[in-house]
Amino acid sequence: MKASSTANANIALVKYWGKRNKKFMLPQTGSVSMTTEDLQSHTTVEFDPKYKEDVLIVNGKEYKKGDEEYDDYVGLFLGVVREMTGKDIKAKIVSNNNFPTAAGLASSAAGFAALAAAVNEALSLGLDDKQLSMLARRGSGSATRSVHAGFVEWKRGEEEDGSDCYAEQLFPPEHWPEFRMVIAVTSKKDKKVKSRAGMKQSVATSPFYKSWAENVVPNHIEAVKKALTEKNFKTLGETAELNALAMHAVAIATKPPVVYWNAGTMDIIHAVMDWRDEGLECYFTIDGGPQVKVMCLEKDAEEIAKRIKEFDNIEDVIITKPGSGIKITDNHLF
Ligand code: PMV
Repeated sequence: MKASSTANANIALVKYWGKRNKKFMLPQTGSVSMTTEDLQSHTTVEFDPKYKEDVLIVNGKEYKKGDEEYDDYVGLFLGVVREMTGKDIKAKIVSNNNFPTAAGLASSAAGFAALAAAVNEALSLGLDDKQLSMLARRGSGSATRSVHAGFVEWKRGEEEDGSDCYAEQLFPPEHWPEFRMVIAVTSKKDKKVKSRAGMKQSVATSPFYKSWAENVVPNHIEAVKKALTEKNFKTLGETAELNALAMHAVAIATKPPVVYWNAGTMDIIHAVMDWRDEGLECYFTIDGGPQVKVMCLEKDAEEIAKRIKEFDNIEDVIITKPGSGIKITDNHLF
């Protein structure tokens, strides 16, 4: 009852920000993302009666019952798995990310997609990719999208039990192999407000929440899907950038405020707008953290990475492209 898998982080082109049902992790809106190629979680899980308690080790650090990372995330997720299977066997989970954890690089998305895939294999649950995306959702909303490769839509669904709330692939990576995101890592520190807490507060208190969810997001989903179909880079970039700013406007207007941006974030936002005016075609997006992801085409990626490195507040630059979904591997971490 041991298995390992890998999954990549995804970067939202139309953001998810807020739940309508906490238990089933059902979102207020749909969302669209790109699964990356180089931001990977590698996870091994073993269910065995020899474990008296669940053991969780992420990037070499151990978490137990009583730690937030276990209680509010992996512990809850394992509870869902135990309810589903009717088996109460404890598990050991070891997971490594090759990128900064909990700083707006969707580590929970990659982590829970990989964990769902490994659990499915270890317990021989026989779930298909759609069912796996629904299981991953119970760990972290955005993880539902990392199950699939390439460009992905997470459907909001209408049902209260979540039976129509899952992710599906819009296009495989080969549809647009020249698409790039250049990630400006402006801080590797853990963020102060986790997405889960921030979005909950936004739903409850942001004066812009309702109009964002009802008027802005549905239009952006349609525009982004059309732009992806036509490989229209300008429309895609413009819409994704506006969508990120709208989400952060909702977050910033929350009480207490959810402000993820730092000085490096602002530097890159302004730089991207200036570069665009000069004719270098690029757009930015920002998730629940201070990193800026600059969307561009392959021909401009190296130049953009070089320019980003010239700024003071930059800790790292990563170039990524449309990448693969979950994969089972024989490479066990213990
Ligand atoms: O799935 P969570 O709880 O990590 O929330 C992700 C929220 C954003 O990254 C800000 C947006 C998104 O759609 O990924």
